[in-house]
Amino acid sequence: MARLLATSLFLASALAAPSQLPSYANRYDFIIVGGGTSGLVLANRLSEDPNLTVAVVEAGDSVFGNPNVTSSTGYGLAFGTDIDYAFQSTPQEHAGNKSQILRAGKALGGTSTINGMVYLRAETSQIDAFAKLGNNISWDSLLLYYKKAEGLQRPTEIQSQLGATYEANQHGFEGPLTVGWPTEMVGNNFSQTLNTTYAAMGLPWNEDPNGGHMRGWNVYPQTSDPSANLREDAARAYYFPFSGRANLHLYLNSSVQRITWEAQSNTTLPSASGVAYKDASGAEEQLLANKDVILSAGSLVSPLILERSGVGNPAILKQFGIEPKIDLPNVGENLQDQTTGSYGTTANLNLTGTSDYVAYLNIHDIFGDDTEQLREHVQSSIPAWADEAVADSGGTANRTAIQQLFEIQHSMIFDDEVVISEVLVKAPSEGSGSISYWGLMPFSRGNIHISSANASAPAYINPNYFQLDYDVSQLVGTVKAARRNANTAPLKNFLPTETSPGLDVVPANAPKEVWAEWLKSTYRSNFHYISTAAMMPKEMGGVVGDDHLVYGSANVRVVDASVLPFQVSGHLTATLYALAERAADVIKAAHA
Ligand SMILES: Cc1cc2nc3c(=O)[nH]c(=O)nc-3n(C[C@H](O)[C@H](O)[C@H](O)COP(=O)(O)OP(=O)(O)OC[C@H]3O[C@@H](n4cnc5c(N)ncnc54)[C@H](O)[C@@H]3O)c2cc1C
Ligand SMILES: *[C@@H]1O[C@H](CO)[C@@H](O)[C@H](O)[C@H]1NC(C)=O
Ligand SMILES: *[C@@H]1O[C@H](CO)[C@@H](O)[C@H](O)[C@H]1NC(C)=O
Ligand SMILES: *[C@@H]1O[C@H](CO)[C@@H](O)[C@H](O)[C@H]1NC(C)=O
Ligand SMILES: *[C@@H]1O[C@H](CO)[C@@H](O)[C@H](O)[C@H]1NC(C)=O
Ligand SMILES: *[C@@H]1O[C@H](CO)[C@@H](O)[C@H](O)[C@H]1NC(C)=O
Ligand SMILES: *[C@@H]1O[C@H](CO)[C@@H](O)[C@H](O)[C@H]1NC(C)=O
Ligand SMILES: *[C@@H]1O[C@H](CO)[C@@H](O)[C@H](O)[C@H]1NC(C)=O
Ligand SMILES: *[C@@H]1O[C@H](CO)[C@@H](O)[C@H](O)[C@H]1NC(C)=O
Ligand SMILES: *[C@@H]1O[C@H](CO)[C@@H](O)[C@H](O)[C@H]1NC(C)=O
Ligand SMILES: *[C@@H]1O[C@H](CO)[C@@H](O)[C@H](O)[C@H]1NC(C)=O
Ligand SMILES: *[C@@H]1O[C@H](CO)[C@@H](O)[C@H](O)[C@H]1NC(C)=O
Repeated sequence: MARLLATSLFLASALAAPSQLPSYANRYDFIIVGGGTSGLVLANRLSEDPNLTVAVVEAGDSVFGNPNVTSSTGYGLAFGTDIDYAFQSTPQEHAGNKSQILRAGKALGGTSTINGMVYLRAETSQIDAFAKLGNNISWDSLLLYYKKAEGLQRPTEIQSQLGATYEANQHGFEGPLTVGWPTEMVGNNFSQTLNTTYAAMGLPWNEDPNGGHMRGWNVYPQTSDPSANLREDAARAYYFPFSGRANLHLYLNSSVQRITWEAQSNTTLPSASGVAYKDASGAEEQLLANKDVILSAGSLVSPLILERSGVGNPAILKQFGIEPKIDLPNVGENLQDQTTGSYGTTANLNLTGTSDYVAYLNIHDIFGDDTEQLREHVQSSIPAWADEAVADSGGTANRTAIQQLFEIQHSMIFDDEVVISEVLVKAPSEGSGSISYWGLMPFSRGNIHISSANASAPAYINPNYFQLDYDVSQLVGTVKAARRNANTAPLKNFLPTETSPGLDVVPANAPKEVWAEWLKSTYRSNFHYISTAAMMPKEMGGVVGDDHLVYGSANVRVVDASVLPFQVSGHLTATLYALAERAADVIKAAHA
């Protein structure tokens, strides 16, 4: 491992000195902007062909030896350090005008170096929804790529006894991304305690929530290496073992400012010539692309790079003196995120080890007999919600299309019965218990735009949390499920007293308004920002097609969380790794 580190750092520092580069330096077939979760999958797969040259331009540094990253139990250690962008949202007008911290990883490996390591995919109907928008993507076709990415470490006998289960036909075992169960799992019969508790709540055990059907509870796997006891991030999986490839060059500490363009004739689509970036010293440099420029800078950066390159809403670009190149008003629109919080108790059990226990609930589990009424309320609200979404987009969004998107989402929730609530129980320790909860399918739509032509200036980022009433209902229903969970035996015997919110703040039979007030003063972002360059038809508000090409450009693509048109009920990386694997095949085929 130490030698691997030395090699990669040597490569990185060699690259800082242009005189040591081979003659093709500064000109590559592909330039990948952002060496993060998605970008490194592309870098790896495109550079498999020794005839293709690939540059990765990454704003952060290598974090191979950073203990805040490598620790498989250290979630949160990296927050607020220099590898966390910690962007700020605008004041959230539907939640007390408080702004939120929006975390994202600034490092080789991107956000996979600081995230919670949860490996959970999606509901089949959420991936099939891509096809409803005209994309050639379905659960069955993406499953091949989930498997291609994954290197599942089968649970040991002890891990199996402690609740780790999987269905072999849903998994990949040879892929670069090591996935496994925690090295030290929680014992003390705790998974049986939960099994009995959920049975009493009417929620079944789910043998494998990664098979496309997520309802139930499970001890899920994570992106970590159980035998080495290390976090598995995109760099460890897709870059370091391959860093010796002569046709793959990495530029660290290098922040892309904008795309540069070929001189344009009036008969061809605008074609990117390369990118302009700032190196570690702050000097502006340029790289040239023979084939494509691929943006993988994340959903809170890729749309901004498009805008600074003249791709976006001309009215916004002109405000900052940027000459419009491609009129694509929905760049940065459709921003979606989930909201989360923590429910707390005292505990009379002090367990050691880490295991991850997830309960996924659908609309009936959350709303019971009120489900039909809610179905009708949401259905009849869609026209008004579409009006509100259009207004909040400054009139940019296509009302008919928003309405169609909301209808699809309604159908996923009420017809397909995808899970809408996630409840994560932490094993009680040190006298306290905690349960995290979040709503999975919010309707609210926000946006992100540049606030200056200067790439260093903070962007305008408005997730628009709780814009629409369903999102409040969904989160209230979810936190009530967390409270129900803590108050169901046998778990309840170990968690004697609620500390957060506490019955004095939110009484046992509190109405929705009381819950909502507490939630809005304590929630945070769930960090699942998506859809700021959505994969759907241009007239519906899309920015890329299913080949990831930006509409109206000859050779600019976006491959990262920006392209997801809807939330998935899993966490994002499992699906992003799979989508990037698919994108690599699509891009190779386009240039074959
Ligand atoms: C705190 C937190 C916890 C999370 N927990 C989980 C979890 O448990 N499981 C899960 O699956 N998902 C989780 N997520 C979400 C998931 O990690 C991200 O959605 C995913 O990693 C995003 O991948 P990406 O490829 O879109 O972008 P990223 O991985 O963020 O990659 C973008 C890269 O681009 C670089 N970059 C940005 N701007 C520039 C520029 N101008 N020039 C050059 N490079 C640039 C960045 O430094 C970064 O390396 C979590 C997210 C956060 C923030
Ligand atoms: C990146 O920048 C950091 C901080 O300035 C520096 O410590 C590090 O050596 C740089 N890395 C490379 C590869 O140049
Ligand atoms: C690379 O290019 C050479 C020369 O054009 C060709 O002979 C070879 O087959 C190519 N290799 C691959 C993997 O495409
Ligand atoms: C790790 O994080 C802590 C704060 O959690 C910080 O003080 C420390 O500098 C970080 N270490 C590295 C190597 O960044
Ligand atoms: C939020 O800020 C806006 C604009 O400053 C203001 O109009 C509104 O009244 C504020 N709302 C709350 C709840 O404070
Ligand atoms: C759709 O994708 C499949 C692979 O999943 C591929 O075989 C097929 O050719 C694609 N169809 C089109 C029209 O691109
Ligand atoms: C939970 O109980 C079910 C039977 O009701 C059983 O099949 C399953 O293996 C149990 N899971 C765990 C982790 O004990
Ligand atoms: C384990 O937990 C289950 C469910 O609470 C209980 O029935 C069983 O007796 C426990 N077993 C032991 C050995 O504590
Ligand atoms: C642009 O296209 C028109 C025909 O539509 C042609 O007459 C004109 O010469 C072209 N201009 C350039 C600069 O190519
Ligand atoms: C909990 O257990 C840990 C490890 O066994 C121990 O260090 C700690 O003192 C215990 N704390 C309490 C409150 O019992
Ligand atoms: C760009 O913004 C950064 C941060 O706000 C500032 O330090 C820098 O001076 C600005 N550059 C220009 C050219 O205005
Ligand atoms: C708005 O969306 C609808 C439905 O997708 C589409 O038919 C129509 O062309 C779009 N309108 C515009 C102006 O793009």
